[in-house]
Amino acid sequence: MLAVSDARGALAEHLRYFQDLGVVGLSGDPAWSVRPVGRAAALGQAPTASVEARLPGPSEVTADASVSIAVSLFDATSATPTAGLDPAEALTAIQTDLGDCTRCKLHALGRTQIVFGVGSPTARLMFVGEAPGQDEDRQGVPFVGRAGQLLTRTIERLGLRREDVYIANVIKCRPPANRNPEPDEVTTCEPFLFRQIDAIRPKVVVALGTFAAQALLQTRDPISRLRGRVFNWRGARLIPTFHPAFLLRNPPEAQRKEAWSDFKKARALLDEE
Ligand code: URA
Repeated sequence: MLAVSDARGALAEHLRYFQDLGVVGLSGDPAWSVRPVGRAAALGQAPTASVEARLPGPSEVTADASVSIAVSLFDATSATPTAGLDPAEALTAIQTDLGDCTRCKLHALGRTQIVFGVGSPTARLMFVGEAPGQDEDRQGVPFVGRAGQLLTRTIERLGLRREDVYIANVIKCRPPANRNPEPDEVTTCEPFLFRQIDAIRPKVVVALGTFAAQALLQTRDPISRLRGRVFNWRGARLIPTFHPAFLLRNPPEAQRKEAWSDFKKARALLDEE
C-alpha cells in the first residue's frame, strides 16, 4: 500500500508524463471520470478524448485514496510546445493558440475582446485576478479600471512598475454583467493561464481575491482562511490576498492592513534566495 506522500509523488509524476505529452489541462467535470467503453466511444466524443489515469493498482492504495484523473485532450491537440522558447516567444505562441477563442460560451455573451495578460515576460512577480471587467473588456488590458488603478498604485508603492510584473486573470473574457465565472468557463480557460505561468516562471504569484485564490489552489476555503499564508504552487510561492475591488469598498482598517502586509510579503519574497 502506498503512503499518502508516495501516492502524491506518483500522481505528480503521472501528471508530468501527461504534461510532456502536451496535455495542458485537467477537467474537473465528473463526466470525464467515466471511462467510455472502447476507444471508438472515447473518440466519438470529438473534439475531446478522455484518458482515465489511476494510481498503481488498488492493492497499493486504499480504495478511498485511489485517484481517478480525467484528462482533457481538447487543448493538447492544438497546443504549440513552448519548451525551448524564450518567455516572450512562448507567450506569443500561447496567445496564437488561444486565437479568437470560441471554446466557451463567453465568446457569445457580449465580450468585446480577449484580455490575454500584460507585463514583462520575465516578471518575477505575477498578479492573477478573476476576470476582465467592463474597462478591461474595452481596452483589452487587465486591471485598468478603478480596481486596476489601485493595483497599479500598490505595485508602485512596492517600488516596482507595472511593466516589471505580469498581470492576468483566471479567465480571459468578461462574463456578462460581471457575474462570477462558471466552472466550465474556468476549466476551459485556466489551461492558458497555467501555460502563461509556466512560460514566465515567476518567483511569486499573488492571487487577487477569493475567486482567483480558490481557483488556483483548488479549494473552497474562504479568502479569510487562505490569506496570510504562503503556498508552494507550480514552482512559485503563491500569496492569496484580498481583491483590490474589495479594498476599494473601504473594508475595516484591519483588512486593509492585512492586504498591505500580503503585498509587502510578496515583495520581500522576491529578494529571498
Ligand atoms: N478585476 C479582475 O479580477 N480582473 C481585472 O482584470 C479587472 C478587475
